[in-house]
Amino acid sequence: MHTDVHKTEITRRSLLSLLGWGAFFTTLAISVPASIRFLFPRVLFEKPSTFKIGAPDDFRINGNSEHQVYETWKAEHSVWLVKEKNRIYAVHAKCTHLGCTPNWFPDEGVFKCPCHGSQFNRSGVNFAGPAPRPLDRLKISIGKDGMLVVDKSRVYTFNEFDKQGTYVEV
Ligand code: FES
Repeated sequence: MHTDVHKTEITRRSLLSLLGWGAFFTTLAISVPASIRFLFPRVLFEKPSTFKIGAPDDFRINGNSEHQVYETWKAEHSVWLVKEKNRIYAVHAKCTHLGCTPNWFPDEGVFKCPCHGSQFNRSGVNFAGPAPRPLDRLKISIGKDGMLVVDKSRVYTFNEFDKQGTYVEV
């Protein structure tokens, strides 16, 4: 009889001890990953807003056109570079209707938005569809090293297109 009571007591103690360790490890399992995350906080690494695009002489007009549209930076930066006879400017590849990305059709000399059919001429001026204004332009300048630099943090709407920074004379 005495032995049975003793055995029951040991089993109860073992169970309590087991539960205690279980709780301990559960707490550990929850808190360790949280602590590790705390040590490595989430940081958003944003792309810099400025990027170099080359020397002014790198851009030429082919054929008899008065404009040449360069698509080199569209995928990564949402920018078209447009070269005219005496100036270069950066057009924001974002439709002024609801922000879709238009496509450039060199044979027609037209930017067309796939979302609701807006169309823009080679200079980005809207002439069809619901877009309320021309495509915006981005700041462009010549750096100390003579290279053209586009700054996406400064956006110009059409009523500012004659401001300094909206184009570079070449
Ligand atoms: Fe371009 Fe609507 S978003 S036409």
